[in-house]
Formats: sequence, structure tokens, C-alpha cells
Amino acid sequence: HTSSDLKDQTALVTAGPTQEAIDPVRYIGNHSSGKMGVAIAENMANRGAKVTLVMGPSHEKSHHPNITTVHVTSAQDMFEAAQKAHPHAKISVFAAAVADYAPAVQAQEKIKKSTDDLSILLKKNIDIAKTLGKEKSEDQYHVGFALETNQEEKHALAKLKEKNFDFIVLNSMQDKGAGFKHDTNKITIYHKSGKSDASPLLPKSAVAALIVDHIVKDL
Ligand code: PMT
Repeated sequence: HTSSDLKDQTALVTAGPTQEAIDPVRYIGNHSSGKMGVAIAENMANRGAKVTLVMGPSHEKSHHPNITTVHVTSAQDMFEAAQKAHPHAKISVFAAAVADYAPAVQAQEKIKKSTDDLSILLKKNIDIAKTLGKEKSEDQYHVGFALETNQEEKHALAKLKEKNFDFIVLNSMQDKGAGFKHDTNKITIYHKSGKSDASPLLPKSAVAALIVDHIVKDL
């Protein structure tokens, strides 16, 4: 459906995985497809918002005229693109699955097979949502995601606070059909006010509509 409750609003959405290069042919990555983030960008665009979609390597795409896609590879690239768009975005939704660590050095040549054991030293990546959460002004609105395998609620609530989100969307790895890759998702929203709201398993487009409804209610 198309409405105009986000007319004249601007938004930033991060989506997809990041890839952290080990050498010219290998990387550390994760299973995010980008589907959830693209569904949110499209829902906001359909409601009139101008959206900057900062997306890691993904097969998903959007041709919506209100969406400008910035393609990135690593967490550092994603941070730089998100930081550029953030001051202009009333709403930011952090749906990307960002690698927490990257190889400390990227080998210039393909690493050759040699010893039985091989270690790669990793260093912590910048936390995009947390950093921009510190730059967030009074009239900006931030939504985060959490994908957890255990103690879901506790971890989600900790991230809600630590990253200065207005609400966080939890998808549990324990729910069938939820999270990575699937065309469906099942979520619980934890709002900073303490309120929470759980959804059944729904197509990602319907989950996106629910999430955006929650944002619009608060603006
Ligand atoms: O892409 P799909 O296949 O459709 O799957 C969607 C999804 C499961 C990837 C998505 O719904 C989701 O949950 N994304 C967040 C995954 C996650 O594990 O996040 P996290 O717990 O590592 O991080 C919490 C929040 O901080 C997230 O909003 C994340 O985008 C953000 N973050 C994390 C680390 C980092 N370095 N920078 C960040 O901005």
C-alpha cells in the first residue's frame, strides 16, 4: 500500500552483510541477504520518504525512485557512507549485520597453503550504530536490530541502551523462518519506554510495515 505519512522525511537504512578482506581472494562475512533492510527502505519510500540505503554485498536491489543506494563492502566503508548520510536523516534504521572484527592486516598476495594451523589476527571494527548514536540529535530517530542465539531479551535490551536506539527489533535464531535469508521474519520490538510488541511469522514486507508504523507513531 502507498500512503504519504512520511512525505518530506529523510531516512538512512543500513542493510546486508559486510565483507572483511583477508587477502585479495578471501574475506570474513556472514549470512545476511539484505532482504530485511531493503524491505524497510521500500516501505519508507512508498510512504513518501527519501531514503539512502547503504548496503553491503547483496543480490537484493531496489529501483524505487525515492531510494538512493550506496554500495559498500567492509564495515569501515559502511560507516563512512552512513556517517555522510546521517546528518540529513530524520530516521535511521540499522538493519545491517556488520562484522564485529576484521583482519588486522590485509595480505597483499594470496595467502599460500603451508602449516597445519594458521592464525589470522582480528581487530575490532567501528560500531556504526553506537558511533552515530552518540552524534544523534534531539529530533533524530534511531532503530536498531539484534540477532541473538541465547538470552535474547537481555542482550537486546543491553544493545537498546548502549547504542541509544529509540527501539530495537529482536529476531531470534531460535524462531523457524526468522532472521537471515528467509523471506519471512518474526520479531519483538523493545521500545526505550519499556513497552514491547511481538509479531507472528510474517513476510519481511509486512514486518517492515510494522516497524515503520512504530516509527511513524513516535514522530
Ligand atoms: O539481511 P537478511 O537476510 O534479511 O537478515 C536480516 C537480519 C537478520 C540481518 C537483520 O534483521 C538483523 O537482525 N540485523 C542485525 C544483525 C545483528 O546481529 O546485529 P548485532 O547484534 O551485531 O548489532 C546490533 C545493532 O548494531 C544492529 O542494528 C547492527 O546493525 C548495529 N551494528 C553492529 C555492529 C557494528 N559494528 N555496527 C553496527 O551498526
